[in-house]
Amino acid sequence: MQVSKGPVLIAGATSGIARAISNELAKEGHPIVLAGRDESELQRLASDLSIRTGTEVHTALFDASDPATHPLLLMEASAKAGKLEGAVLAFGYLGDQQLAQTDWQEARKILELNFVSAASLLHVLASDMETRQTGWITVLSSVAGDRGRMSNYVYGSAKGGLTVFLQGLRARLQKSGVHVMTVKPGPVDTAMTFGSDKLPLLADPGDVGAAIVKALKRRKDVVYVPSPWRLIMFVLRTVPEKVFKKTSL
Ligand SMILES: NC(=O)c1ccc[n+]([C@@H]2O[C@H](COP(=O)([O-])OP(=O)(O)OC[C@H]3O[C@@H](n4cnc5c(N)ncnc54)[C@H](OP(=O)(O)O)[C@@H]3O)[C@@H](O)[C@H]2O)c1
Repeated sequence: MQVSKGPVLIAGATSGIARAISNELAKEGHPIVLAGRDESELQRLASDLSIRTGTEVHTALFDASDPATHPLLLMEASAKAGKLEGAVLAFGYLGDQQLAQTDWQEARKILELNFVSAASLLHVLASDMETRQTGWITVLSSVAGDRGRMSNYVYGSAKGGLTVFLQGLRARLQKSGVHVMTVKPGPVDTAMTFGSDKLPLLADPGDVGAAIVKALKRRKDVVYVPSPWRLIMFVLRTVPEKVFKKTSL
């Protein structure tokens, strides 16, 4: 599929993976709206991106944890760049699993940002694109959502919920010609994983961003990045619970 060159909203634009996706899409000539909380970093990213690619780049401030700002974000993005062709949801919060086991506020923050906040913005974007009968939405879920593991089940369950939400949304929106793609990255070398030890197959964010945009052009429904994670998670999902619960994964 040839992706047309309409405006794209990047929500969570300061994320390591989002930077790479923005770069790929800007190189293709899409006007970009970089949205996030850090105004100065957004401005810096926008001027760098527009200088390097010659593309129109805008910024918009929003806090994913405040659903009231989500309709305003869509209005601002559309006013600045025009009706959106696409949207990428890249914000997320890994949090601290150990802390989340004793501190409900930490557990709640992980669950709310990764699931409730994403669902809220998707709710707004879906209505707009469904009404216009056009568009695409790409969302960063995670391999962590494919199976609950002792070491990160709070984050994993939020991403698992998001994955299921996206399955249903994809089925709803395909009737309107709106495409929804779920991205399931394995560990990627970004601020999110900085300082974590024992991460297998740590991927480069540039490679991950390029693979995501390639999958988007092919209108994939679900993409694992890097691709070996599809097989790894298939195998992990087949391990019987009786055995799996005794691992310290
Ligand atoms: N890195 C990995 O190994 C990995 C693996 C699987 C899935 N993922 C998922 O991929 C996505 C991108 O990950 P990444 O590693 O690129 O992330 P990252 O570099 O750690 O960045 C996280 C992003 O989330 C934003 N964010 C957090 N709370 C926010 C809020 N309340 N409102 C608005 N933005 C908020 C941050 O904005 P600020 O700059 O304002 O903090 C930042 O842009 C996330 O959804 C993550 O869960 C990552």
